[in-house]
Amino acid sequence: MSRVRPVVERMHGYVPGEQPRGGTVVKLNTNENPYPPAPGVIAAVAACAAADLRLYPDPMATALREAAARRYGVASEHVLVGNGSDDLLTMLMRTFVGPDDVVVYPEPTYSLYDTLVTIQEGRSLTIPFPADFALPAALADADGRVLIICNPNSPSGTFTPLDVIEDLARGREWIVVVDEAYVDFAPATALPLVARYDNVLVLRSLSKSFSLAGMRIGLAFGHPELLAELAKVKDSYNVSRVAIAAGVAALEDYTWMEQNVARIVASRARLSKELRAVGYDVLPSAANFVLARRPGEDQGAVQAALRERGVLVRHFATPRLADALRISVGTDEEIDRLLAELRALG
Ligand SMILES: Cc1ncc(COP(=O)(O)O)c(C=O)c1O
Repeated sequence: MSRVRPVVERMHGYVPGEQPRGGTVVKLNTNENPYPPAPGVIAAVAACAAADLRLYPDPMATALREAAARRYGVASEHVLVGNGSDDLLTMLMRTFVGPDDVVVYPEPTYSLYDTLVTIQEGRSLTIPFPADFALPAALADADGRVLIICNPNSPSGTFTPLDVIEDLARGREWIVVVDEAYVDFAPATALPLVARYDNVLVLRSLSKSFSLAGMRIGLAFGHPELLAELAKVKDSYNVSRVAIAAGVAALEDYTWMEQNVARIVASRARLSKELRAVGYDVLPSAANFVLARRPGEDQGAVQAALRERGVLVRHFATPRLADALRISVGTDEEIDRLLAELRALG
């Protein structure tokens, strides 16, 4: 563990086994949903566990692809399932990125992109976001095999209008990946672009809005030929039988997800307002977290002090983000606890 520890800490901002003990830990550091998945999901998991675990899963997760196709109004050939959307990002990189291939994305953003490009010995061409995290105009002049737009972006929570993304896909050779892990908390999805452009790949996650981070389910939407290339590098049985059953049930109770999203969006507004009241600048968020900044004041010590008090939030020790905390939107009680601890710290 000693050698792995720094790697885990860098990737996730904490080491799970080292969470503070005693008292209730308020976990606002990895953007999980504070509410449980739909009752139908729990029932489907139990039924699957009772029936079929000795059998391998369907390698193409057909039932889940069909459920996604019904839910999102596309043909199932346009859907590929991953063991979380991280798995789909890995497939993407293994398929399209080799030594010296260029992957373009604005930064700061989801750190896994850089990790995966490095593993492939590719090159990340990163273009800095301006202070308001609007998509940098310089992206239009960049070139590479793949362009990744995280929308809403993490860790800023900011949202890029779809016409801006469409302009970057139209008439271009590169594959435009829109990472929509947080899109259910946002005003619009890039899914309609998939039907219009064969170079657009939209990645979705059931970890956040559907409360299934522990189950590991991601969905890729794209042209069937693009998905066929990704499927070539897929682990044979990348999604378990239990996850397939859970995913189908989750997509079938869309209202449950929407109700939880509505609660989180309301709590997000309150959290943003209260953080501003205690002296943080908070970017408008279209996700289930906010980025709270005290310009010029490193927030590493605040994160550590909150952690001592049993409240986990995310701090990134990079020049661009050192004066900020990324805070997931929890329940109202969790938000109260965070705010009380912040006020106690002064
Ligand atoms: C921007 C972004 N993309 C993808 C993921 C991965 O999600 P999943 O749990 O589906 O692998 C995350 C997880 O935090 C994320 O923040």
